[in-house]
This record gives sequence, C-alpha cells and structure tokens, in this order.
Amino acid sequence: KKPPMRKGSMIDVPKNLMDQIHSLEEQFTVSGEKLKEVTKHFVDELNKGLSKKGGNIPMIPGWVMEFPTGQETGDYLAIDLGGTNLRVVLVRLLGNHKFDTTQSKYKLPDHIRTSSSEELFSFIADSLKTFVDEEFPEGVTEPLPLGFTFSYPCSQDKINEGYLQRWTKGFDIEGVEGEDVVPMLQEQLAKRKIPIDVVALINDTTGTLVASMYTDAETRMGCIFGTGVNGAYFDVVSDVEKLEGRLPSDITSDLPMAINCEYGSFDNELVVLPRTKYDIIVDKQSPRPGQQSFEKMTSGYYLGELLRLILLDMQQQGLIFEGQDLTKLQKPYVMDTSYPARIEEDPFENLEDTYDIFKNELGVETTGGERKLIRRACELIGTRASRMSMCGIGAVCTKRGYKTAHIAADGSVFNKYPEFKERAAAGLRDIFDWEPRQNIEEYPIVIVAAEDGSGAGAAIIAALTQKRLAAGKS
Ligand code: GLC
Repeated sequence: KKPPMRKGSMIDVPKNLMDQIHSLEEQFTVSGEKLKEVTKHFVDELNKGLSKKGGNIPMIPGWVMEFPTGQETGDYLAIDLGGTNLRVVLVRLLGNHKFDTTQSKYKLPDHIRTSSSEELFSFIADSLKTFVDEEFPEGVTEPLPLGFTFSYPCSQDKINEGYLQRWTKGFDIEGVEGEDVVPMLQEQLAKRKIPIDVVALINDTTGTLVASMYTDAETRMGCIFGTGVNGAYFDVVSDVEKLEGRLPSDITSDLPMAINCEYGSFDNELVVLPRTKYDIIVDKQSPRPGQQSFEKMTSGYYLGELLRLILLDMQQQGLIFEGQDLTKLQKPYVMDTSYPARIEEDPFENLEDTYDIFKNELGVETTGGERKLIRRACELIGTRASRMSMCGIGAVCTKRGYKTAHIAADGSVFNKYPEFKERAAAGLRDIFDWEPRQNIEEYPIVIVAAEDGSGAGAAIIAALTQKRLAAGKS
C-alpha cells in the first residue's frame, strides 16, 4: 500500500498536459471486456501450442512427470541464470515439506548479454567453482547433482537437455540458439575439474510450480512476473497431442507432465493485444522484433522503456522538458523497472522524490505538471501490465477447469512493484466476474508468494529425476 501523502503543495496541471494525460489513459486502459476477450483467445492459443502442428505459444513439455510428495530428501546444487544475477544455491531437502538453502549471488558482467557462449558458460563454471570451494572446503568425492534453472524457451526430449529456441529478455549471445546448453556448461565444468553432474534443466516457472507444490498442495501454477512473464502448470500426457510418437514406452498416457507455456510469446500474430504506438516502437527496436509480444507489454524488462518512449514522444512534440538536456534520457533502456516503481511510490503531493530522480539520475529538471503526467503514465503502464498478465493465469485455469487455485508467483515485478497484487486481483476478478471481496486473499483463485523456485524447485526436480532413474525409468 502507498503511504499517505506527507507534505508539499498541490500542483495545477496545465490544460495541454491534462489533454496528454487523458490521451494516455485512453491508450493504456484495458477494460474488463478486453481482458475477457484476450483470455478467450489465450485459451485457444494454449491448445494450439499443445497440438502437433503447434502455434505461437511453445507449450514445452518439461519432463517432470510426478508431483513432489514433500518427502524428497538429499543435498543438491541449483543454479539460476536470471537477467541480472547468477544465483548458486545449495539445497538441503529435509522431507516433511521442509528445506534449507545456502546461496550466493554473482552479478552478471554488463557485457555478457551480448557476449559469446564460451564467455557465458565460463562465467557460470567459475562462479560454481568459487561456491563449491567455499561450501565443500574438504573437497567433493561423489559428483554433486545439479538442477540448472535456465529461464529461456528450451526444447527438451528429456530432462537433462535444453535446446535454446531463441533468446528472450534482451539477451543476444551468439552460438547458443538451436544448441543444447547442458553440454556447454558440462564442458566448462570439466575444464575446471569441478565434479558436478547436470541432472535436470528446468524453466524458472516449472521450478516455482514444483517448489510451491512441495509445501502447498493447492498450488496449480508457477508464474514469473519479472524481467520476463511466463507460467507453468501440470497437464496430462494424453492431452498433450504433440507428445504422440515421442514417448519412451514406459511413459504412460495417464502420467502428469509439467508444461512450461512460454506464453510471453502469446499473440505474436497480433489478433487481440491492445498495443499502443509505444509498444510498437519497443518491439521494432528490440533484438527480436515480432517475438514475445505479450511479454513486451507486461514484463519488467520493458516497463521503464515504455515510460521513456512516452516522455520522448511528448518532448518531441514540444509539450514537456523545454530547454532540458535529454542526453541521458535518449539512451534506450536507461530506465529500468525501478523507475516507474519508485515514481509510483513517491509519497509527496508535489512529487518531490520524482523531481530528485529526474534531476539527479537523468539530468532533467521537471515542472510540477510534468511530474503529474509522469506519475500518471507510470500508473497506467503498471496497471496495464498487472491486469494484462492475468490473462495467462485466467486462460490456464479456464483450460484446466480450476475453479479454485493457489498460483505461486515470483519475480521482481510481483515482489517489488507497488500495487501489483491488488491490480492483478482486480484483473482476475474482471476476467471471472467474481463478486468484490474485502481481502484479495478471499478470491477463489489467489496469487501467493512462491517458495524459492529456482533453487528448491530445481533441487526437488533433480531429486525426482534421480528417483526415476534409480527405478530404471526413462
Ligand atoms: C521469458 C523466458 C521464460 C521465462 C520468463 C520469466 O519469458 O522466455 O523462459 O520463464 O522470461 O523469467
């Protein structure tokens, strides 16, 4: 919740800026009707993704074919290659729905997003070496099993491989697309003589789903609202048409199968998405135009950029920032999600914090009216993202017939963006026509903070995999 306004004087917004605010409101407001229409199309697209012919949404089988019981035990390593950090985690599964974790974070060097595969996997292997040396000073005798959370669309025919379909979230490293990333990591580990066995490669959404099921049996989806937007759920093998003919004989059609939807790519055909001219620019200027259309409207990687594009557009029309030096603001992606988040949190009536952010970090002195416009733009961008991102949850729950569910959620936008949870709940309410409730936790489908998916989830999946293999299953 926003803290109450503390001090400052009222700002009068000049008429020409008020007109701009109204125009932004028209462009960015997504009605309940529109959310329903998007969700309806989303259900069709999820189904298409599961068909042999396929569709826009990859709907990737994740080869996790049982639910965790919460009684799995053992020590596992997990790594998570996120957008900004590499996290290395030692997970101790204790059984009885409990686990302990010890972790270290290694900041990804800035240039790595566009470096080479050799550099990327060397960096990961070096970080793992540092971690293993610290945690196991007496050395390691048996190879340590590792679950690799690699949160990009990867095709898998088994759990310990992952052919990168394409980079998302602004990554653009040569020589990885179309390749299996597991041997790339394993090769760098071997070079450094680190005894680690990559047992499972998983998506962050699948990890979130499984880790939360370990502690909460009501969990029906794992979702990420962060740099990217995506969800995973359990389907049944017989309902995944595209698995026909791809299955080892011991995998029966009644088994569950985790599906990493990769629904950030929903509606790349642009049938229903209510895109504004700013969304079109974001897409055109991205390394992969025409892809991740849904993600580009909803995920954290793009929220600050949308704000920047709106402001530049208005400046070019001579409406704001007269006589200001815009050198900094002209740099693409100079504003990450923390900008709209902090601006929305500005407690002052005259938006003093926003004044400081623009002055100190971007070298732009704002007027009161400009700040009101900036604040409203952030509210619109943030509200649209949280409401629209509910269409993925609405669609999966509709498809699977879930009337009630816990949706385990993680990611920087979910955890840090002001009002995300309230706006998201209002979006789901619009989609399902629920009666309003006092407390958002009383709705039939509730979004709950996830257990540590990329650590515990990867470890639990590694444990489930080892159990299958030990039982002689594929
Ligand atoms: C992007 C990735 C996807 C991931 C999501 C959240 O959409 O393609 O694999 O789950 O971001 O991190």
